[in-house]
Amino acid sequence: MIQKPRGTIDILPGESEVWQWVEKTIKETADLYGYSEIRLPTFESSELYKRGVGETSDVVQKEMYSFEDNDRRSITLRPEGTAGVVRSVIENSLATGVMPLSLYYLISCFRYEKPEAGRSREFYQFGVEQFGAQNPAADANVISLGYDIFKNLGLNVSLEINSIGCRHCRPKYHKALHDYFDNCREDLCDTCLDRLNKNPLRILDCKSPVCSALAEKAPKTVDYLCPECAAHMEELKKYLDAAGIKYTVNPKIVRGLDYYQRTVFEFISEDIGSKSTICGGGRYDGLVEELGGPKLSGIGFAMGLTRVMLALKATDKLPEISNSPALYIASMGDNARLKSFEMSLALKKHGINASFDQVGRSLKAQMKYADKTGARFSCVLGDSELEAGKATLKNMSTGESQEIDIADVENIAKLVK
Ligand code: HAM
Repeated sequence: MIQKPRGTIDILPGESEVWQWVEKTIKETADLYGYSEIRLPTFESSELYKRGVGETSDVVQKEMYSFEDNDRRSITLRPEGTAGVVRSVIENSLATGVMPLSLYYLISCFRYEKPEAGRSREFYQFGVEQFGAQNPAADANVISLGYDIFKNLGLNVSLEINSIGCRHCRPKYHKALHDYFDNCREDLCDTCLDRLNKNPLRILDCKSPVCSALAEKAPKTVDYLCPECAAHMEELKKYLDAAGIKYTVNPKIVRGLDYYQRTVFEFISEDIGSKSTICGGGRYDGLVEELGGPKLSGIGFAMGLTRVMLALKATDKLPEISNSPALYIASMGDNARLKSFEMSLALKKHGINASFDQVGRSLKAQMKYADKTGARFSCVLGDSELEAGKATLKNMSTGESQEIDIADVENIAKLVK
């Protein structure tokens, strides 16, 4: 038997309705903040991610699904959404209209990672990107959108923020980090030894117990910020306070992708076992230029929907969603089945999910089926019902019944709504 590839999931009926509810809740919240949807290719040229996400990130170094296509072009399945959105903003000159430009996306992403709970090789993200607003108010507004989404989904999250400075102050911080870790280089894991010269910031992300213990005492970004970056961070805090959004400053948050500057933040789920980042984001003011576009600031986040689903399950917050028919029209004989088909179509025009026998079952088997599908009402059509133009409508849970006029679809729709 052929099985699905490792690290992928099948979203089956029963669960897909919950995904749809999550996506609807998220979209409605994004609408309130004035965001528009953008839909982009699932694969892009590998160059985009190398330059956009950054050569020293784990994503580019070890996790990309890259291949050569038949024209020998290097193609990569998107590992995240930001680089593609920036590419599209530049390619379609989207930054020439009304600013700020506020975009959202619902996408699947691909990373070659070790699969475990909440970590898969194909996973789903809801993300937002906002361009052309540099004021800390924009940082707070983007964070507030994420915060509202979790509130509307009924999930408990905590917010951690940090600033990793800009291209002016970061070199000083890099040097301090390099000097600190260089002093204990014999304790670093092989990956971090390599990171030491390329990008010491990445060492702060290392999961190995020895490196993360060393990271605890490492110099902190906030102590190396230039006055502009420090002021940006202080303003952001003011805005978050005004929004009533609680946060902690966590100097260890540096994010795993190379494009960030100044504000970085993560929402941590309190519901999924160990501390788990359910959403991460930050400001990336140099990225549009880096990818060949105009000087344009950017900020955004992405939340992992697989982790959202895990959190909903863990808290028992899954909404009751059913796709059960409102009415099952049982039939006896070919004429009655034809009529039940016509009735089901007419009821759909009134927004009613009505189903009928498509299999040719006995009446007993049809009623069993109606019960299994959770139909709320049923009626039976036979030759005598067709002749009289009347049938009996039965409430499946109370057993109450009443006569209906088969031709009066509008009334039937009202009764079963
Ligand atoms: P990221 O932190 O790489 O950021 O991913 C965002 C979220 O996607 C994570 O917090 C996590 O919930 C989820 N996620 C990441 N990898 C996996 C995986 N292997 N399995 C399941 N879920 C996963 C970005 O992708 C940035 N593009 C976010 C951003 C947008 N920054 C600015 N704008």
